[in-house]
Amino acid sequence: MATTLITGASSGIGKELAIQFAAGGDDVVLVARSEARLNDLADQIREDQGVGATVICSDLATTDGVDQISQQLREHAIDIDTLVNNAGMGALGKFAELSIDRQTDMLMLNVVALTRLTRALLPGMIQRGRGGVLNVGSIAAYQAGPNMSVYYASKAYVLSFTEGLREELADTGLHVTCLEPGPTESSFAEDSGMGKLDMFSSSTMSAQTVAKAGYEGYRDNQDVVIPGWKNRLMVTSTGFLPRFATRKLVGKLQGV
Ligand SMILES: NC(=O)c1ccc[n+]([C@@H]2O[C@H](COP(=O)([O-])OP(=O)(O)OC[C@H]3O[C@@H](n4cnc5c(N)ncnc54)[C@H](OP(=O)(O)O)[C@@H]3O)[C@@H](O)[C@H]2O)c1
Repeated sequence: MATTLITGASSGIGKELAIQFAAGGDDVVLVARSEARLNDLADQIREDQGVGATVICSDLATTDGVDQISQQLREHAIDIDTLVNNAGMGALGKFAELSIDRQTDMLMLNVVALTRLTRALLPGMIQRGRGGVLNVGSIAAYQAGPNMSVYYASKAYVLSFTEGLREELADTGLHVTCLEPGPTESSFAEDSGMGKLDMFSSSTMSAQTVAKAGYEGYRDNQDVVIPGWKNRLMVTSTGFLPRFATRKLVGKLQGV
């Protein structure tokens, strides 16, 4: 029986990814800060899918929070086969006006926690010769994002890190995949302040559809999964335009 750890499993894409992995037969370890929501999901997964579900409450914007996860896994003697680094946050606004604490939390969560958890769990996967890493980035990875500069840069890191890791692990049999969603229905739009933007009112995908594409792409060991033809078209066209043009365009969409 394989075990998958999903960060940010209390809502949105992470919750749906946990359901997908459980439906595929994996035991799951659910990580986020909201204990009650994680416990409800664990109960639902045990009942519906008949697999094991363990809850670990942790604030991944702190180094201690990330390191506690490894400690709790050791205490419960749980080996992780697949790590899903999904937890993430965004914040709309000018860099010089948003609080530095909020933007530092974003880097801790979107970049440092993902990197630290991967470093903690990967040696065990390599030793056992199975499993892998599914990182949740964003189509924001493909260009700069004025009025959300730290978020876009953090997602460019996720894509670059995942691709580098994939090459490093090419001979190990491990799967390494980056899921790059576009606008998706979840708490993210409201929490980041992006809910008022046209890109969220005009065209969003359900978290379930995005998670299913990510799960299947990871299972098939695809390098990058961009769910939805509109998102794929956007990323492809970005590749044909000069970077000064794409950042201007995103700036206009995000109110600069
Ligand atoms: N929704 C979109 O349009 C969209 C588009 C592209 C990419 N993404 C990416 O998709 C991923 C999932 O986002 P989502 O849309 O599903 O948003 P969401 O519903 O807001 O989920 C975010 C998850 O991250 C967890 N989280 C936030 N801060 C945390 C912290 N400090 N420590 C531990 N967990 C924390 C939240 O749980 P707690 O609050 O319980 O801690 C929640 O489970 C993110 O990486 C996001 O950047 C989303």
